[in-house]
Amino acid sequence: MEYFLPSDRFSAAPMVDVTTPAFRRAARIFTKKATLYTEMIAAQAIVHGKLSLLEFAPEEMPLVLQLGGSEPQMLAKAAREGEKAGFAAINLNAGCPSDKVQSGDFGAVMMKDPAHLAACVAAMQDAVSIPVTVKTRIGVDDLDTEEFTRSFIGAVYSTGCRHVVIHARKAWLNGLSPKENRSVPPLDYPRVYRLKELFPDLHVTINGGITTIGQCKEHLCHVDGVMLGRALVDNPYIMACVDSEIFGDGSAVKSREQILDEAMELASRFKSEGQPFRRLGQHFLNLFASCPGSRRYRQYLSSHMGDDDGARVLADAYARMKSVPERE
Ligand SMILES: Cc1cc2nc3c(=O)[nH]c(=O)nc-3n(C[C@H](O)[C@H](O)[C@H](O)COP(=O)(O)O)c2cc1C
Repeated sequence: MEYFLPSDRFSAAPMVDVTTPAFRRAARIFTKKATLYTEMIAAQAIVHGKLSLLEFAPEEMPLVLQLGGSEPQMLAKAAREGEKAGFAAINLNAGCPSDKVQSGDFGAVMMKDPAHLAACVAAMQDAVSIPVTVKTRIGVDDLDTEEFTRSFIGAVYSTGCRHVVIHARKAWLNGLSPKENRSVPPLDYPRVYRLKELFPDLHVTINGGITTIGQCKEHLCHVDGVMLGRALVDNPYIMACVDSEIFGDGSAVKSREQILDEAMELASRFKSEGQPFRRLGQHFLNLFASCPGSRRYRQYLSSHMGDDDGARVLADAYARMKSVPERE
């Protein structure tokens, strides 16, 4: 049984309204090697027949389906559908602090009942033969001691699960918004490193606040994988270095211009598929982040998202960026 995909050394975090199929196809221009995730998908929606949520293009692989849910049999059925649809692994969300998620009793609140969390993981594992993994945090509310982290990760480990993704801060469910929950509780990377020492055969992916390839390399001296979320939105070009710098595959790092050319080809494919350019274009808004003229590129692109010919819009946005002498 394979527990940890080689591609898990670097992964793009699941993000609702971000890691859509369009994001994932865009991401593949930058990196062929990294693991990509779906947005969180409610197990209930899948079980109630919304199988279109599981569609993806072959180029998106290796791709992990992230499920939200707290009912073991429901999760097991959804995991089975995910395996049938061809996902590389199934991940359970036990770290998301949004109100919507809490009212369904899933996400971060699941840390409060480790035995039930373990029952969910066990049911999913019984249902599929691909890896079942868990994305969580180091604690929740007042359950935030290191002892607690160890014991609830121990409960997950006891099911046979051998890969956890840990956002290295706790979730504070009463009082902080989901956005605040991604920045206010302090990061504690050493606690995640110590978990890896305590469970040497548990594959540990660290997440939270990582913004550079250099930081990824440092973390990889302590844990098995790194996962980046917001940094890839703010500066997607980080992903261009991943295959050579993190996976050491010997490939040349593409320039931003090469990426733009491939983005234009992808935009043409989107057009021929009848998909609106906006879906794709938004993922290239920050391609030139911090380059001279990037503001003009971004402004042009964002104000032409509704246009039909996305390849043309990208080319024109680039021309705007280059046309005026730089004083930025
Ligand atoms: C807009 C947005 C949506 C998110 N949606 C999910 C989600 O669906 N599932 C999940 O496990 N985490 C979700 N997260 C949390 C991220 O996966 C990640 O754990 C968090 O942003 C911390 O990593 P970062 O500092 O690299 O962004 C979301 C984060 C953002 C910013």
